[in-house]
Amino acid sequence: MQTKTVLFIEGDGIGREVWAAGRPVLDAAVAKAYGDFRKLDWQEILAGKKAFDATGDYLPEATMTALKNCDLAMKGPLETPVGGGFRSLNVTLRQVLDLYACIRPIRYFKGIESPVKRPDLVNMVVFRENTEDVYAGIEYKSGSTEARKLVAFLRDELGANVDDTAGVGVKPMTPNGCKRLVRKALRFALDDKRPSVTLAHKGNIMKFTEGAFRAWGYEVAAEEFADSVMTEDEAKNGGKKPVIIKDRICDALFQQVLMFPEQYHVIASPNLNGDYLSDALAAQVGGLGLAPGVNMSDDIAFFEPTHGTAPTIAGKDLANPGSLVLSGAMLLEHVGWGEAAALIHAAMEKVISGKRVTVDLAGQIDGSTQVGCKEFGELLGQAL
Ligand code: NAI
Repeated sequence: MQTKTVLFIEGDGIGREVWAAGRPVLDAAVAKAYGDFRKLDWQEILAGKKAFDATGDYLPEATMTALKNCDLAMKGPLETPVGGGFRSLNVTLRQVLDLYACIRPIRYFKGIESPVKRPDLVNMVVFRENTEDVYAGIEYKSGSTEARKLVAFLRDELGANVDDTAGVGVKPMTPNGCKRLVRKALRFALDDKRPSVTLAHKGNIMKFTEGAFRAWGYEVAAEEFADSVMTEDEAKNGGKKPVIIKDRICDALFQQVLMFPEQYHVIASPNLNGDYLSDALAAQVGGLGLAPGVNMSDDIAFFEPTHGTAPTIAGKDLANPGSLVLSGAMLLEHVGWGEAAALIHAAMEKVISGKRVTVDLAGQIDGSTQVGCKEFGELLGQAL
């Protein structure tokens, strides 16, 4: 028997119900694909409100220690209480574990209504840098002592033309930060047999950050993947390698993915572009509520549905467990259990085509019948 241990955090709000509906689907898919030969070994760790109630701490030390020593984990959504002094648990996890790549696959499920004519042509994976760029959070309020100091320095020492009253943000991007993200995207494209990686940047305007991202991306490809990755020019000149690396200015890329989605397979992007692109692409396939994701370092793959705790529907059996189930399917693909992941994707398509769906999808599918979170999970299990 081959087992994979997955640490899991139930999460707040709808976390408990989407796990209760979704986890049996994951276990059933593994059982269907591999019988008794393979099994997921789920081990709960505490974070969020459940941790606070049990230990008096929202993110106990034991949880962090366990995460630092594991390679697979999965979490439900964690609430960020509004108000002073509370650092987002999600941000803390990302920073402490150095989860530098946020990876979101976007594909279409037949039956969902999409705003575009050919959503079926969308099949992309976005690799978004998770630690630098605007996520570094270096920002100073207009009129503050810090902003005034920085503006004075920029003007007096560096000759920049900045108004005294400006609020100021700093957008740091490093060779190491950009290269490790592009490296991961290229590695994935090769392993998953995706024909291209596109660097999405705004380098025409921000030459030394976004433009540098582009340059460092091409550098990684040339220095580390010369045998398997070629540029568009090399391809035009008859080159034959499994993956093409190309780049697009981000605003143009937004048009391209709408008009020619079949030409884009993996997108590697700095933080802010990736944020916009992944949500826009998810909307393009009508699947914002179904979007799965993973945050990765070099040591750990930490899967999570991309939605939040949905407090207004929590505890009402209304939540869609689909994003959690699809995040689990990503985990299965990640560990090489692709057959089980394929069963899940097929089941999702079957259930959605059958038009018995949770409230969020019911609004998007004509003639559908609304079912609860629990029942949707059961339907997925039956469709495997
Ligand atoms: P949200 O994703 O919780 O809700 C946005 C809208 O989508 C709401 O109308 C909600 O009812 C609906 N929705 C979300 N997930 C759904 C599901 N599975 N099924 C059906 N409908 C669903 O985002 P919001 O309201 O901005 O955030 C609520 C809380 O969640 C905040 O405390 C926020 O910090 C936290 N959050 C946590 C995340 C994480 O742990 N990764 C990600 C996003 C938000």
